[in-house]
Amino acid sequence: MHHNDGESRARARSHVRILSQHEELPLLRDHLLRLDRSSRRDRFHGYMDDGFIERYAEKCANDGTVIIAYFEDGVVRGAAELHPPDQSSGLLPEIAFSVEASVRRRGVGSFLFRQLIAKAQAKGYRSLRITTGAQNQPMRALAKKFGANLTFHHGESTGTIDLIEQNQPESVPVGFQATLAAARAIANFNRAYWRMVLRMYGWGRAA
Ligand SMILES: CC(C)(COP(=O)(O)OP(=O)(O)OC[C@H]1O[C@@H](n2cnc3c(N)ncnc32)[C@H](O)[C@@H]1OP(=O)(O)O)[C@@H](O)C(=O)NCCC(=O)NCCS
Repeated sequence: MHHNDGESRARARSHVRILSQHEELPLLRDHLLRLDRSSRRDRFHGYMDDGFIERYAEKCANDGTVIIAYFEDGVVRGAAELHPPDQSSGLLPEIAFSVEASVRRRGVGSFLFRQLIAKAQAKGYRSLRITTGAQNQPMRALAKKFGANLTFHHGESTGTIDLIEQNQPESVPVGFQATLAAARAIANFNRAYWRMVLRMYGWGRAA
């Protein structure tokens, strides 16, 4: 019971919205600075120091990058970046994602991806480009979920996402909480199921 109450409170405290370009730059910067070492490597393809991240966040605030942020308790825990096409090679808008480890595998990345696609479609973009490390299994899986066809070159995987073919049943403002609630319900069900199975076999104490 208490657990469910806690879940509902956590849900009520989370939301997604676009950051305002200049004023909210520190929110993006602080989120990126909170990423641990390996997440920074995955996100920035090897560049990891704080100075680089600070300059990067500042650049985003000034070059028209749209940042869609996932908030929990007023703190940005995840971000989807939609970079304007003239800033990236091949003249396609470049996209990137970051979700802090404490909120991963709860559907946050997928939800941000959907919101980003809806925003890109609204801007009239026809396709998007994503680049990630060839070893970055979570991001490759997430990109594939949204139709990216990734190719490998020099340790990087790059792909394009065709927005004309994207079926976006949830692009009409669906409450974020509802989607997240569904994702959490599935995660909770899985956890409960495995706890039950482990208990049946007498292994469940630490689960
Ligand atoms: C990649 C990242 C954004 C995913 O965020 P997330 O909130 O955990 O993503 P979701 O919970 O929506 O998961 C989406 C899908 O990604 C895949 N995935 C996510 N984490 C995974 C993992 N550890 N292993 C394998 N697949 C994984 C799954 O297919 C998952 O879908 P499913 O849960 O329906 O099976 C997050 O891991 C991250 O920020 N990593 C560090 C930064 C980074 O690598 N950025 C990419 C550079 S562009």
